[in-house]
Amino acid sequence: MQWRRVLRFVNMEVVYVLGVKGGIGKTTFSLYFANQLSLTGKKVLYIDHDYFSFGSLILGHNDLGLLEEIENNLPIFSRSLKNINNLYILKLFSNPLDANKDYSLLSNSIPQVVNSIAKMGLDYVILDSSVGILPDNDIVIGLLEELDVEKKGVFLSDMLSVNSTIKYAKLWENAIKYKILVINMVPPIPEDLSEAMKIANKVYDDNNSKLFNTVVVVPFDEKMYNYKPLGNEYENERLNTILSCIVNRCNTLIIN
Ligand SMILES: Nc1ncnc2c1ncn2[C@@H]1O[C@H](COP(=O)(O)OP(=O)(O)OP(=O)(O)O)[C@@H](O)[C@H]1O
Ligand SMILES: [Mg+2]
Repeated sequence: MQWRRVLRFVNMEVVYVLGVKGGIGKTTFSLYFANQLSLTGKKVLYIDHDYFSFGSLILGHNDLGLLEEIENNLPIFSRSLKNINNLYILKLFSNPLDANKDYSLLSNSIPQVVNSIAKMGLDYVILDSSVGILPDNDIVIGLLEELDVEKKGVFLSDMLSVNSTIKYAKLWENAIKYKILVINMVPPIPEDLSEAMKIANKVYDDNNSKLFNTVVVVPFDEKMYNYKPLGNEYENERLNTILSCIVNRCNTLIIN
């Protein structure tokens, strides 16, 4: 197929921000990573896979999602793609009920969508995923897998869901080579930092199969809680470290 030829010239990285649980920071982290990368001059595509389109909303994208665009026979990306300088925002869904929709229309358009993404000349794609998506049965992952580029994964977990997150990450072993586990100190149990560090230590030590290249604890940060990461003036040292690990593929334990 002709569009496959385009892909060979693509030189970008795709970062999947994943988690088995809701409200553990996927959107906050995705937006932070996308914003910081774009501030360093990288061309970044933030893909909002959330059926509530929360990240898009925060970035001021209130228009149609890709699925609805395709359903209405509108040109691809005419409404679903917006940009703020070199940060591009692709919203997939227009409302939460899209979760129950038939995706065959989107499947038929995959070559065209992939081709359009490939032609954008992106440095990074950041996928803000919805809860618990799996590599084999998700239409968006299917689409991104068509891009013959490196995939990296940030697995977000709170302290309670670490074991489920480990099981979840195992399901991604073949699809993602470089993986980071983040134990994020989100409410309602943000305070027990020493316990989180102990858990991270143990996961990293037990990590014989090298499931995770890097394990990180991110402490609770009041400013992050208020969605300040989106303002260009907010910086979080720990998130910057994670970002630099994503870029440089570090192998380490980061707990203090
Ligand atoms: N380290 C942190 N410190 C303080 N607040 C945090 C931290 N991480 C995330 N939060 C807050 O937790 C809440 C949930 O985060 P977010 O919406 O990013 O999670 P999510 O995984 O995208 O949720 P959903 O599953 O609903 O999409 C937000 O209010 C966010 O600001
Ligand atoms: Mg979210």
